[in-house]
Amino acid sequence: MSEEIYYPNPEFAKDARINSMEQYWELQNSAKEDYEGFWKGYADEKIEWLEPYDKVLDESDAPFYKWFTNGKMNVSNQCIDRHLATRGEQTAILFEGDKGDVEHITYNQLSQRVNKMANLLKNEFGIKKGDRVVLYMPMIPEAAYAMLACARIGAIHSIVFGGFSAEALKDRIEDAGAKLVITADGAYRKGKPYMLKPVVDEALGQGGESIEAVLVVKRNNEAIEWVEGRDHSYNDLIDAQSDECPFEPMDSEDPLFLLYTSGSTGKPKGVQHSQAGYILWAQMTMEWVFDVREGDVYWCTADIGWITGHTYIVYGPLAAGTTTVMFEGVPTYPDAGRAWSMVEKHKITQFYTAPTAMRLLHKMGQDEPKKYDLSTLRVLGTVGEPIDPAAWKWYYEVVGGSKASIVDTYWQTETGGHMISPLPGATPIKPGYATFPLPGIMAEILEADGTPTPVGEKGLMCITRPWPSMIRTIWGDPERFVKSYFGDVKKDGKPVYFTGDGAMMDEDGYIKITGRTDDVINVSGHRIGTAEIEDAIKKVDAVAVSAVVGKPHDIKGEGIFAYIVLKEAGSADTETIKAEINAVLKQEIGAIALCDQIAIVPDVPKTRSGKIMRRILRAIAKGEPITQDTSTLEDPSIVPAIEKIVQEG
Ligand code: WTA
Repeated sequence: MSEEIYYPNPEFAKDARINSMEQYWELQNSAKEDYEGFWKGYADEKIEWLEPYDKVLDESDAPFYKWFTNGKMNVSNQCIDRHLATRGEQTAILFEGDKGDVEHITYNQLSQRVNKMANLLKNEFGIKKGDRVVLYMPMIPEAAYAMLACARIGAIHSIVFGGFSAEALKDRIEDAGAKLVITADGAYRKGKPYMLKPVVDEALGQGGESIEAVLVVKRNNEAIEWVEGRDHSYNDLIDAQSDECPFEPMDSEDPLFLLYTSGSTGKPKGVQHSQAGYILWAQMTMEWVFDVREGDVYWCTADIGWITGHTYIVYGPLAAGTTTVMFEGVPTYPDAGRAWSMVEKHKITQFYTAPTAMRLLHKMGQDEPKKYDLSTLRVLGTVGEPIDPAAWKWYYEVVGGSKASIVDTYWQTETGGHMISPLPGATPIKPGYATFPLPGIMAEILEADGTPTPVGEKGLMCITRPWPSMIRTIWGDPERFVKSYFGDVKKDGKPVYFTGDGAMMDEDGYIKITGRTDDVINVSGHRIGTAEIEDAIKKVDAVAVSAVVGKPHDIKGEGIFAYIVLKEAGSADTETIKAEINAVLKQEIGAIALCDQIAIVPDVPKTRSGKIMRRILRAIAKGEPITQDTSTLEDPSIVPAIEKIVQEG
């Protein structure tokens, strides 16, 4: 075999929850033999049930699967109250601001603040169970308080990443029919204040009629506009609230939150997650994949605006009773040693980040980690995109001192938690492989007809049994839910969940994720649909047609490459058009969707029925040879013409 294999550090494996592949297979086989029994064991052990459930898994209305039906519980109880007797004085959230300010918030303090916030939402704004609350927040503890306060009273939060534009925020507010927006004046990044509240003002100026009030947390104290009657100050109102707010008994299947994500077509979809199944898997994966133990300080660098921030900064770590770090800034400020200095200062035991950040930190400061004491690190995680073996090796050797285990965790907004990942005390690792499905997860690489893809070949990454933390539906669009995830692959005549990713398995059963098979681009680990980008580009006057593809980028993983056909040939030059397009993208979606490269072309390759052949455009963008038959195109001569334009830059 060509790949190098890295075995878990025996010192670490000794105490790990799952510490051998035998134990892994035992668990996985027990799940295969008695699927419901497997999940029942964990649900009974981990969840504090207020009322027992009557059925583990209800498949009668597939694919609208239900877990732990009619059980009653509360996620904020899972994350806070039930820990108070044993860990009230332990740090729950360790906050570090951009400028280095540090705050330790104990579980007792978290409880008080979440209770107060829950009372504020209830008493001041009349938020009830089932109401939608949009969060447009920086990475400050109040964001976590707001999430948990919603969970406490049964309101459904929908967090919109702070990098999204006013237009994108407005669309999400409207789709969710939210009543309240919680935001902050702004926060700090790279030593300077940046603003959020003005974006909310702009969004609500354009629509978002369902919004009754805006709650504003003070963070950077910059001047902001104030709409009397609509805007309310968190800081002025919070002290008067009682710190006792009984949690609402929630049904296992009540929605916990919505999180909008891009698909290959149309507008972003509101992925709906449930209560019991979601929190169960969030906690289990914290224990298995990060192997959190007493006294650990766990740091995930994601933003709460993404699913990783939901499951692995707030819900999972707190459900597991660990200390979770929340960081306002960026790991490259004031220099490329910021992250490592934080690891040393806080004695971080698990560090979880994206390959993009890894590549950037590697590039900016190859030897930077060596200046710090990183010996507390036991588990290093990555998520969001495939990690290349070079970045993997640096992470392992230089950051982890060849002692820490690396977990390349594969999952999605829709899966709620990890699906395929090494177990740090058990799995021998091949860099670049997400390795094996976690115990209880029935992941298979299939052809569209459900036959297994042969070893070594690319197939479709599917999950063939429902799992507790899976997406329940797309908010307001159950048909799209069925079509998006259960439309492409059938196994034994029954539709199974298809992730949208390609994958291959090697002769040892190791799974490698090969990337999206649909029109979704993964920029710095963020999903962006090409359709969304093209819809925005349409708003540029001079543009007749656009076709957008992903192109490998050495830091971002993928960058955005746009082919543009002008209404009037020669009416504008590349630089002007690029500036106009990027201005529109910034306004319609946000800075994450900016094009890296554009090519003005006379036309795009289309089939005779008018379908744009993106595969050809992707190959040209990458500078790869065209392997496809182009004779069936409406105008085959367009292909060499485009190639020439792209080559000449
Ligand atoms: C990709 C992020 C390779 C994949 C948690 C998936 C990965 C999409 C990995 C989901 C990984 C995530 N290796 N690719 N370890 N993890 N992906 O919804 O294409 O923002 O479908 O969730 O990221 O992105 P999302």
